[in-house]
Amino acid sequence: MKELIIIIRPEKLEDVKQIIDAANCGGMTISSVMGCGTQKGIVDEGAVNVIKGFKTNINLLPKIRVEVVVPDSSVEKIITELRDKIPTGHVGDGKVFIRNIESAVRLRTGERNEKAL
Ligand SMILES: Nc1ncnc2c1ncn2[C@@H]1O[C@H](COP(=O)(O)OP(=O)(O)O)[C@@H](O)[C@H]1O
Ligand SMILES: [Mg+2]
Repeated sequence: MKELIIIIRPEKLEDVKQIIDAANCGGMTISSVMGCGTQKGIVDEGAVNVIKGFKTNINLLPKIRVEVVVPDSSVEKIITELRDKIPTGHVGDGKVFIRNIESAVRLRTGERNEKAL
């Protein structure tokens, strides 16, 4: 099993949910986060960054973080779909981080690993 940590623009959440549903993944966890990539959150040279009403030099932009644990065999299909549907062609389109998941347990039934997803 692999965990995909998918960080995207908030407006792309519905697209990502559809991609994950289509891949028959059981569940997902979504959180609202702040982040920056290579551009350090600068969208417009010289722009003043304001977060929750405060000016800041820490240039963070609102992003959505999707965590989904999937069978190894689903990973490439999901990444192909994400590459197809998510890019706008502008900086800040996001990233996918992939890590190994050793095991999983569904607490209700005791099912393990892929059966627990
Ligand atoms: N190296 C990293 N580690 C953790 N999170 C990252 C990293 N790079 C990007 N992110 C997350 O992904 C979001 C989108 O990054 P993005 O601007 O598309 O990356 P880049 O500018 O490097 O191409 C960031 O706002 C941040 O939340
Ligand atoms: Mg960037």
